[in-house]
Amino acid sequence: MKIMVVGGGGREHAIIKKIKENPEVTEIFALPGNGGMAKVATLVSIGATDIDGIVNFAKENGIDYAVVAPDDPLVLGCVDRLEEIGIPCFGPRANAAIIEGSKVFSKNLMKKYNIPTAKYEVFSDMEKALSYLDTAPIPTVIKADGLALGKGVIIAFTLEEAKDAVKSMMLDKAFGKSGDNIVIEEFLEGPEVSVLAFTDGKTVKPMVSSMDHKRIGDNDTGLNTGGMGTIAPNPYYTKEVADRCMKEIFLPTINAMNEEGRTFKGCLYFGLMITKDGPKVIEYNCRFGDPETQVVLPLLESDLLTVMKAVTEEKLAETEVKFSPKSACCVITASKGYPTAYEKGYEITFTDEALAATFVAGAKEENGKLVTWGGRVTGTTAVADTLEAAIKEAYRLSDGVKFEGAYRRSDIGKRALQAK
Ligand code: AMP
Ligand code: GLY
Repeated sequence: MKIMVVGGGGREHAIIKKIKENPEVTEIFALPGNGGMAKVATLVSIGATDIDGIVNFAKENGIDYAVVAPDDPLVLGCVDRLEEIGIPCFGPRANAAIIEGSKVFSKNLMKKYNIPTAKYEVFSDMEKALSYLDTAPIPTVIKADGLALGKGVIIAFTLEEAKDAVKSMMLDKAFGKSGDNIVIEEFLEGPEVSVLAFTDGKTVKPMVSSMDHKRIGDNDTGLNTGGMGTIAPNPYYTKEVADRCMKEIFLPTINAMNEEGRTFKGCLYFGLMITKDGPKVIEYNCRFGDPETQVVLPLLESDLLTVMKAVTEEKLAETEVKFSPKSACCVITASKGYPTAYEKGYEITFTDEALAATFVAGAKEENGKLVTWGGRVTGTTAVADTLEAAIKEAYRLSDGVKFEGAYRRSDIGKRALQAK
């Protein structure tokens, strides 16, 4: 079976490695992939948002099954286009991917169907947004409506910061058209949990829970990033919380999407905050999280491709999705300076055991060498019987990933350990 995976980061590397475990798979194409996955996939230099290019490639190469991993091609309707030419896909259609593509859509959905989330107001007029802030409780949270490379959320701790955030989105267009509409919402507090869930629109099967570490600095300080490391399972996601989430959030969301004529099939990512009033949705993503995938999939004991195809064929109810009871930790190694300006092109070297445990994100092959080519360069994952052991091992293995200016947080998993 010939598989095509759209995307090119550490998440896609983790997906490809797992899919490759299925003995029926003969070849995996990564569009565009990256130099670090050349051993497990055939790299095809077609960008993840080049929908025409992706569709033509699939047609010309007899692709049997496609996985569309990143948000942009999903929101752009990549799955719809591939389905039109008869290629079965894993991932939601555009009309369901909007759950991530528009924050205004997802907030209105939650309000309409009583799904717990932060209280909010929507604005398309800057003056109205600014005068609303004069009466809003501070801290407050300002969100651009559309996709903004994970940077469209600003938490304002003073009125001035809040007003600056509104102006940067609506006047200076810091996120382009994504800032035409904004959401201003209540600031929530509590530990965060990421839950990725398989759903075929009828059944929802949550994967093992995880915890991201979004800030660049230790102890959650400094700028927001795409994620500097993850652990799974998340100790704040107790059985009681999980039961509540299923009843109050997961099933109501699937049903709400069906009700709206936007059946969601694929991986639905619930970004949750466990507040004192119970779990609330911070955000939905229409895809696997990055770097959550790098700890969740190594714990999946069922065959990933079988589960994905069950989602496509709407047979998830009768398909087993089993996770190991072990723990996992992924430590990201980033370029010095990330998430602001950083240099590229430094050679990356690995010890053998680090290479085997590492998912490559921001790298490319140049003259037979792997060089840095992005902010987050690699993610190194270890699985162990306890979270403590997984963290220790992930750090030991990460030390075997070397390049000029390599930066890692030193406290991935520390907060989770304190929860126990
Ligand atoms: P996002 O880009 O939607 O993933 O949001 C980035 C981060 O902002 C989240 O992981 C939370 O830590 C934080 N955040 C978003 N919304 C809220 C909120 N209403 N209250 C507190 N923190 C929030
Ligand atoms: N790690 C957060 C995300 O994938 O959006």
